Amino acid sequence: MAQALEANGCINGVVNVAGITRDARIAKKSFADFQAVLAVHVHGTFLFTREVAAQHWHPLFKQAGNQPLSDGLNRFVINFSSVSARNGNVGQVDYTAAKGAIESMTRTTAREFAGYGVRVNAIAPGPVRTPMLAAVGDAGIEAMSRATLVGRVAEPEDMANAVCAIADPRIFGYTTGQIFPHNGGLYLA
Ligand SMILES: NC(=O)c1ccc[n+]([C@@H]2O[C@H](COP(=O)([O-])OP(=O)(O)OC[C@H]3O[C@@H](n4cnc5c(N)ncnc54)[C@H](O)[C@@H]3O)[C@@H](O)[C@H]2O)c1
Repeated sequence: MAQALEANGCINGVVNVAGITRDARIAKKSFADFQAVLAVHVHGTFLFTREVAAQHWHPLFKQAGNQPLSDGLNRFVINFSSVSARNGNVGQVDYTAAKGAIESMTRTTAREFAGYGVRVNAIAPGPVRTPMLAAVGDAGIEAMSRATLVGRVAEPEDMANAVCAIADPRIFGYTTGQIFPHNGGLYLA
């Protein structure tokens, strides 16, 4: 974060997207795997969010006399949850716990960062055709495609476009503390 600040002079947006899976049913799940999944998703999201606040946004807020920042800059955090936070997923007690935590963290962060003029939201994707999905194989991807209402799994571009839309203040400048379902109709609620 310090290097990014040094190079750019400011950081206006953070997208917390890193993730891992270590799928196994609860009876077979090692505690080390459970902790590793929580570490990347929950600790990673917390640490990146904390550093940009501690090193940049909070100091700006203090300089402004602890008043909401009114410099007109578009600032945002976008976290990545998953449809499985609400729907559950066999073999993913760690991953679903992490995504539930990320949704809660999104709401708290939105409240804390409002004074910095930072909108904080999360995207909850359904299946996306990335290396993370490769483990389910072609048959699994086909089954998942059929389970959606749009008839396909998402492409990475679907997620990137959603990030761009949520980041764009002309589209979602009035939206913060929300979880965006982005799952092709896999889960309706
Ligand atoms: N692919 C899906 O079907 C799907 C569905 C719902 C949610 N998601 C979420 O979307 C996000 C992106 O997943 P993806 O599908 O691109 O997964 P992926 O496995 O294809 O890519 C994950 C990325 O995270 C990075 N990463 C992992 N551990 C890291 C660490 N400790 N530090 C820094 N980077 C690390 C990896 O290098 C990789 O670039 C994740 O948060 C994932 O949980 C994915």
